[in-house]
Amino acid sequence: SKPRYIETRTDGPVGFIELNRPEVLNALNRVMVAEILASMEEFDRNDTIKVIVLSGKGRCFAAGADIDEMAEADSVEMELLNQFTDWDRLSWIKKPIIGAVHGFALGGAFELALCCDLLFAAEDAEFGFPEVLLGIMPGAGGTVRLTKLAGKTKAMEWLFTGKRILAKEARDFGIVNQLFAKEALMEETARYAHQLAKMPPLSVRYIKESVLKAVDASIYEGMQFERKNFSLLFSSADQKEGMRAFMEKRKANFKGR
Ligand code: HXC
Repeated sequence: SKPRYIETRTDGPVGFIELNRPEVLNALNRVMVAEILASMEEFDRNDTIKVIVLSGKGRCFAAGADIDEMAEADSVEMELLNQFTDWDRLSWIKKPIIGAVHGFALGGAFELALCCDLLFAAEDAEFGFPEVLLGIMPGAGGTVRLTKLAGKTKAMEWLFTGKRILAKEARDFGIVNQLFAKEALMEETARYAHQLAKMPPLSVRYIKESVLKAVDASIYEGMQFERKNFSLLFSSADQKEGMRAFMEKRKANFKGR
C-alpha cells in the first residue's frame, strides 16, 4: 500500500525517499519511521537501485520525532513499544544512503541524518539535539553517533544545551560531507548519487560494511573484517573486469557481480 508520510521515486539506479509531512516540519511519527525502513529495504532488494537518497519536503529535512505522539507516554509504554527495532534495521541496509539536509535536522531527524553514509547539506541547514529542552534526551543513537563523530567535548556541549550546529560548523566537524546552495542541494545530491551508482556495487557494499565495522571495532577486529572482504572481492567478475580494463587501457564495465 502507498506510504502515508513519505514519498518515494526512482530515477534509474537511484532511489529517492522524501519525508512528506511538511505541515508539522516532517515530524517523525512511528508510522513514518516504519515507512522509511520499509522503502529502504525495498530499494535494497531492488537490483536496479544502487544508491538511496533521503531528504525532506517543504521547509526542512525534519524537526525531530513527533512530540505530540510522545507527550503523554510513560516509560513502561516506551519500553513495550520497542520502537527502536525499526531504527536497528537501518544498519542492515547494504546500499549507500545519502542524506540531503536543508533547514532543520533536529532530534530524531538529526539521528536519522547521522545514520546516512554520506551527508550533504544546504547552507541554511541547522542540526541539533533539543531533547534536553523537553526534559528528555536522544534515544535513537544521538549521544553515541555524535560522540563518535565529533568527540566528547563538543558532544557534551551540544547535547547539554540543545544549541544548534550551523551548516558550516557541521562541515568543519565532519558531520557533513559537503555544503551546497539551497537551490542546488537536490540537484547536486542527485548528480553525486548517479556518479556513485557507477562504481562497482560490490566494492561499495564491502567498503560500507568495513567502514561501519571500523566505527565500533578495535583496529585488530576491523582489520580482520577488512581482509575477509578484500579477499572476497577477488571472486567477483567486477574485480576481473576492473583489473583487465586497467591493463587494456579501457573503461571498465561493471556488472555488480
Ligand atoms: C510535532 C512539530 C514538531 C515536532 C514542529 N512541529 N516540530 N510537531 N513534533 N518535533 C509542528 C509545530 O507544532 C507547528 O504545528 C508546525 O510544526 C510548524 O512549526 P513551528 O514551531 O510553528 O515553526 P517555527 O516557529 O519555524 O519553529 C521551528 C522549530 C520548532 C524551531 C523547529 O518547530 C521546534 O522547536 N520544533 C521542535 C523541535 C524539537 O524539539 N525536536 C526534538 C523532538 S524530540 P502547528 O500545528 O502549530 O502549525 C526527539 C526525540 C527523538 O526528536 C527520539 C528518538 C526517535
